[in-house]
Formats: sequence, structure tokens, C-alpha cells
Amino acid sequence: MTTISNDLFEDDLDLPDPVAQQRYAHLVGLDHVKMRLAKEAELILQPQLLREWSLRTHNTVLPAVDRLAHRPPLIIFAGDVGTGKTTLAETFADAIARRHRIDVRVKRLSLRARGTGAVGEMTRLIGTAFDGVLDEARLAGTTRPTILVIDEADALAQSREASQMHHEDRAGVNALIRGISQIATEAPGVLVVMCTNRIGALDPAIRRRAAAEFDFARPDATQRAAILTSLFEGIPLGPSDLQELVKLTGPDERGYGHTYSDLVDRVLAAVCLTAYPDQPVTANLIAEQIRRCPPTPPFTAQS
Ligand SMILES: Nc1ncnc2c1ncn2[C@@H]1O[C@H](COP(=O)(O)OP(=O)(O)OP(=O)(O)O)[C@@H](O)[C@H]1O
Ligand SMILES: [Mg+2]
Repeated sequence: MTTISNDLFEDDLDLPDPVAQQRYAHLVGLDHVKMRLAKEAELILQPQLLREWSLRTHNTVLPAVDRLAHRPPLIIFAGDVGTGKTTLAETFADAIARRHRIDVRVKRLSLRARGTGAVGEMTRLIGTAFDGVLDEARLAGTTRPTILVIDEADALAQSREASQMHHEDRAGVNALIRGISQIATEAPGVLVVMCTNRIGALDPAIRRRAAAEFDFARPDATQRAAILTSLFEGIPLGPSDLQELVKLTGPDERGYGHTYSDLVDRVLAAVCLTAYPDQPVTANLIAEQIRRCPPTPPFTAQS
């Protein structure tokens, strides 16, 4: 991991990295997203692979390859809270780095890039951040691709159509669009990933530019069974115990069930801390702690 002085970014993550590999592997229920994303990202980061495929299989570079190569290097992760958007954005390139034996740098734009609201400040900060990414990417070329993660992207790219929008926010959207276009033309090997739980608040001009948009949802019954089994590996849980826990973590009269992060971060800790130091973990104890840790309301219900 490298620390850079520019405080518009969190610390860089350099992949491959064993911690990223493990965080990625522990994500449940996202196999379809992982598969599609791997291809999308691979072809944006390593555009020559598509040309090589076309030459190999068609003996020529198909026009379709050129069209695909000109897609904007932007992918959007949208969906419910605690469903793995940030984790996936920060770690998915680990698999690409390993497969192609290359280094990939993950740069994470800080919310500080939003500034304090002073006129022109956000535009200047976003411009500076993109200049930094472009300078670094030009030096690295496509041999060391970059993923630029813009988390909580709605904070920066709020719809310009929102009537209450401050002039400064609109300027931020324009700066973002400019930055993404610049990356598309000047820095092959950079991919921007925006995460949001409020896709409706994201500016339509940004959404139109995305090569792909992925939706993230709370775990269904099968996915809850998978995550509970994995979290409580080593604890003897019979099929009826598991069925009961799956039911307890599903939607009830509230209309929503537990998120992945409710289970991974809150229920697991509550269970272990209750059992420790002198009790074993049992199905009853897990059920009791699930009842005590109600699910996080969906974003719309919170706001
Ligand atoms: N699909 C999943 N499988 C396993 N664990 C998950 C999954 N999704 C989230 N988690 C766990 O939940 C925690 C929060 O995940 P993360 O921050 O990636 O969610 P998010 O979608 O970005 O949430 P938010 O919308 O609140 O920003 C992490 O500890 C992560 O490992
Ligand atoms: Mg997040």
C-alpha cells in the first residue's frame, strides 16, 4: 500500500494484494456481477485483448471492436446499503491483476474533493484530482492500469435537474464529466467506478456515459443461507436451524430483511461477544442476537 500526499485521495491500494483477494472472495451472491464486471473491466483496462481476440477468431479487427473500445471508461455500482458496492469496487481488479500478471492501482477519491461549498472550489478540487490521476496514468501507461473509485458518488454527481441544487454542485457534475471524457481520450488503462445508494440522485448525463450499471440488492433466502453458513462455519447447525435463521433474517412486517453488512458486521460480532468467554455459539444464541439486531432500513426509508 502506498501513501500519497495528495489529500484528495484515500491511501492507494496496489493489487494484487492478499487482503483484497480475501475481501473479494468473501463476497456472497455477487457471482453474476463479478463475472460480467471482470470482462467489462478487463476490456476497458486492456483494450488490446479485444483486438487480439478478434484477430485470433476472425483474422481481422472487426469494426465492433473499435466501437467497443470507444465506450466511456465508467462503471456504476448502484443499490441498497451494505450490499458490497465499496468492497467490490476496491477489490475486483485483484482477480484481473492475478490473471494477467500485472499491477493495478486503486485510487479512491476522498469526499474531501467535495470541498466546503465555496464558489468554484468543487470544480477546482475535482479538476485537480483528475489531473493527478491522468498524470500518474500517462506515466504508467496500460502496463499498470488504474481504477478510480468514486464512492458515495451522488454527493459529487447529484442530478443537475434537482431543483434545490446549489450552483456549486452543478459545477461539480460538469467537472466530473470533463474528467471522465479526458480519461477516455488521453489515458487508456483507467477505469472510473462510481458507487451510490441513490441512483435516482445521480445526474442523468453521468448515467448516460456509463459503459455498465450494476444493481446491488439485499440477500435473498439462498444468499442468506450461504452467508450464514459461511459466517458460522464450524458451528453445528442442522437444516431446520438454518431454515429458521434464514427466516429470521428475511423480510417481515417491516418489508425488508437484513443486509449483508448487518449479518457480517453486526450479527456476527454480537453472537461472538455474547458467547465469549464461557458459552459456545448455538443456533438459539444466533437467533436471539438476530432478533436484537434489527435490519438497517433501506435508504429510501431512512431519508
Ligand atoms: N455480498 C456480500 N457478501 C459478503 N459480505 C458482504 C457483502 N456485501 C457486503 N458485505 C460486507 O458488509 C460490509 C459492508 O460492505 P460495503 O461497505 O462494501 O457495502 P456498501 O454496499 O458499499 O454499503 P453502503 O451503501 O453503506 O456504502 C463489509 O464488511 C462487507 O464485507
Ligand atoms: Mg459503500
